[in-house]
Amino acid sequence: MSDKIIVFDTTLRDGEQAAGVCFSERDKLEIALQLEAMNVDVIEAGFPAASRVEACNVAAVARQVRTASICALSRAVPGDVDAAAAALEGASRPRIHVFVNCSDVQLAQQLGKDRDEVLGMAAFAVRRARKYTDDVEFSPMDATRADPVFVAQIVRVALAAGARTINIPDTVGYILPDRLAALFRDLQQRVPELEEAILSFHGQDDLGLATANALAAVLSGVRQVELAVNGIGERAGNTAFEEVVMAIQVHGESLGVHTNVDPSGITAISRLVEERSGMAVPRNKAIVGANAFRHASGIHQDGVLKFRGNYEVIDPAVIGHTTGTEIVLGKLSGRAGFVSRIRALGIVLPEGGLDRAFDRFQEVANHRPQVDDEDLREICDMAQSGCVSDA
Ligand code: KIV
Repeated sequence: MSDKIIVFDTTLRDGEQAAGVCFSERDKLEIALQLEAMNVDVIEAGFPAASRVEACNVAAVARQVRTASICALSRAVPGDVDAAAAALEGASRPRIHVFVNCSDVQLAQQLGKDRDEVLGMAAFAVRRARKYTDDVEFSPMDATRADPVFVAQIVRVALAAGARTINIPDTVGYILPDRLAALFRDLQQRVPELEEAILSFHGQDDLGLATANALAAVLSGVRQVELAVNGIGERAGNTAFEEVVMAIQVHGESLGVHTNVDPSGITAISRLVEERSGMAVPRNKAIVGANAFRHASGIHQDGVLKFRGNYEVIDPAVIGHTTGTEIVLGKLSGRAGFVSRIRALGIVLPEGGLDRAFDRFQEVANHRPQVDDEDLREICDMAQSGCVSDA
């Protein structure tokens, strides 16, 4: 038996909170439609109360996307809930996501309200959202730094007011995976009503733990994960969509879970988000970085040439990566990689020429980060013409 994990994509909302990112209506629409085509379950399109333009952008996405649920974020205040509902009017599956701070530090230092006032705000806002749609999500913000007794209390209040999804945010990317697992177990014990709701996790990557935390959450009963393509988002970003989707794809059987996401769209959506956000994907980024399927050292090249699975856990074709596994020649490459590359270029060397060319290649490689095909042709031409010594 495999449980379905609901994939909630927040590239267009928390992703857009990355410093320096501004999606136009067209960007939001194209990204949302591509996510929908990949069978993403919920797309958080934005925060309509932020501005008139943002409300229009969310409305445009809500009108166009038909199969995925479209979600709009709202603080636990009436004006925000109404703005979210108005923006979602054209949606075929509207969801309102209400949140309020719940850690003592944020109550005292940001909101200036006590716990009872916050409980009242949560109940009121969720009830108001339920007047517009049955699909209401509630997030106690900064839950991982909050008093677990208060988190349980506010979750109970939100459920009683009609929330169907309870999302636990690690707002400042603070928690460790084992502590998060314990938090979810504790919460489910304190609030048995959660059995009737969907439990969700929203992670930030401040300590680089967002993906590990999302998987720990899944192992502790969470059935919705909130993700952003390329991991973009506030500060160090959100849990990376491609990482969690592929970790579940690779380990789903042992985890007993699956998603409905079509992974063949991952490379394309990553590139689209990279282009539209203006945030370059680091070369070594898991799954979607330029080096994710490039092999540079001799031992790895030899292994991957014999059997791709020796050094790759994902078949690049599965994520729609058209270049696929690559051998990149450089200082640490060995003979196997060198020979495979010159064969791929159709170069045939005479007796002794291969040894000469390989020696020359190693000399050249010691002085540059990469030996490309043009360099190789030159090296082989020289070896063929005998211009390279056997020494
Ligand atoms: O990081 C956070 O806590 C959020 C919530 C609104 C889910 O973005």
